[in-house]
Amino acid sequence: MDYIINGGARLSGEIADYGAKNCALALLGATVLTDEQVVLHNCPSIVDVENMLLLLSSMGKRISRSDDTVSVSGALTTTSAPRDIANLLRGSALVLGSTVAKYHGANLPLPGGCAIGSRPMDIHLNGLKALGVTVDSSDDMVICKGKPVGAQYTLRMASVGATENMLCACALAEGESVLANCAMEPEVTALEQLLVKMGAKIQGVGTSTLKIVGVEKLHGAEFDVIPDRIVAATYISATVATMGDVTITNCNPLHMQAFLNVLIPHAYIKQYDNAIRVMVNKTPNGYGKIVTAPYPLFPTDMQSLLLSLASCCCGRTQIVEKLFENRLLHNAQQLNKMGARITVNNDVANIEGSSLCGAQVTAYDLRGGAGLVIAALNATGTSSVSGIEHVNRGYVNLAQNLRTLGADINVIP
Ligand code: EPU
Repeated sequence: MDYIINGGARLSGEIADYGAKNCALALLGATVLTDEQVVLHNCPSIVDVENMLLLLSSMGKRISRSDDTVSVSGALTTTSAPRDIANLLRGSALVLGSTVAKYHGANLPLPGGCAIGSRPMDIHLNGLKALGVTVDSSDDMVICKGKPVGAQYTLRMASVGATENMLCACALAEGESVLANCAMEPEVTALEQLLVKMGAKIQGVGTSTLKIVGVEKLHGAEFDVIPDRIVAATYISATVATMGDVTITNCNPLHMQAFLNVLIPHAYIKQYDNAIRVMVNKTPNGYGKIVTAPYPLFPTDMQSLLLSLASCCCGRTQIVEKLFENRLLHNAQQLNKMGARITVNNDVANIEGSSLCGAQVTAYDLRGGAGLVIAALNATGTSSVSGIEHVNRGYVNLAQNLRTLGADINVIP
């Protein structure tokens, strides 16, 4: 699928954010912890979430969806995740901790590296080993056996997925666990809050040290998936790139302070409780030096968006990508086809702002694809962005929503 974009149209109007993919995936993984019904509202209808639901139903869970409300109930009928479905999304790894916790075993095919980097699982697996689980892993498969027993574990890096798997494993473990250097992303905190609603005993919610006293059983609960901060940042970036005036509703500005702080010197940004208005009337200057890091610092997922903004501003920016080794290079090469002036040296990109012009470019990953769309909205002339399948994994109706805001964008199936 391609997008054909005629750049230059100024975006204006209002657009509503929706539930976060990475929150929905983590909460869905946690539904394995109970046979009772877990009801998730604001659950976005995107390819990754639908594939996660497919994975859960293929393992025995009963699923029903009514608009953005998803209900999951019942017990697993197998603790082996089918390879063809598990390989559809990296988020499939988020059933590991919950399956081991409730069923004392799990067989999970590992999806391996992807376009953004090698994405190892050592922190997840060492964490489970620390809980006394026997872990047998090869390149493409992990087999876990044994009931988790509470322990102290310090994550080597504040990994989002490893924190989420460990939280689920510890929630039903025997005894007390202390997890240190945990990720504090809002999606992780949301998982902690859902687990507490399900009866888990967690101290330190929202912090980097979590004390979890395992319980025998968790029960059903109802929960709202938090707004997608990366989607909100995408519409904000599209507004900055087109010097527009757009209000994003149903979002949480508190979850995106690091990103907003980078833009504030260049744009009028008004923050409300659950909305953000962005208005730009002159071409931004360079954005300085940005280093990606775990929350609450500047997120890697918004780096691809900023790379595009830095390419079409009128000054210098340096971006250092600390988390995913391939995330800079792919997009820099594509943006340079549009006339950007980006040089990449390992994890550092130096960007000299310039005028972009339409070109044929290819998305290699989800956020990279969104970044290319933003650049194309700014560029003079027509661009075609291929590889939109990646974008559809995490965005609901991106082209249609941008069109509502005034963009000239068409979809070629
Ligand atoms: N890491 C390891 N070993 C591990 C786990 C992670 O070395 O066992 C490294 C990774 O290679 C990376 C860093 O730790 O360098 C952080 O990775 P993390 O585990 O935090 O990432 P993740 O859980 O695999 C989630 C999101 C990503 C997002 C990252 C960082 C989900 C489903 N995915 O991935 O989202 O970029 O956190 O915030 O929650 C996306 O939405 O497009 C996306 C890639």
